Amino acid sequence: MLRCLLVCFCLVFASVCINACSRNNKDFSIIEIKCGTCHSASIVYGENRNEHEWDRIIYAMKHRGLKLNPNEEKAIKDILYKNF
Ligand code: HEC
Repeated sequence: MLRCLLVCFCLVFASVCINACSRNNKDFSIIEIKCGTCHSASIVYGENRNEHEWDRIIYAMKHRGLKLNPNEEKAIKDILYKNF
């Protein structure tokens, strides 16, 4: 019984890990796709900005020709606010 619980726990733990990892990968791919066309996406990863500054950067990129729908904009800002 105890062993069964242990196995279940391991399985749940593993699936949570896998989920978290793949979600992360997916998160960053939108940056590669949307922000990696005019310059390398690594220009984004090197920055360490607060939310206000990221808003201004996105605004500036839109002026330079970046196309985002509201969902994409929200997803990108979420990633930028949390990670950079
Ligand atoms: C339409 C083209 C284009 C797209 C798409 C684009 N950028 Fe840029 N970005 C530029 C240009 C042009 C520069 C100025 C490059 C330089 O000065 O060498 C720049 C510079 C930057 C810089 C450097 C800081 C600055 O203000 O000069 C950051 C950070 C940045 N972009 C972030 C992003 C992010 C985040 C995205 C995606 C949401 C993005 N860019 C998408 C054109 C674009």
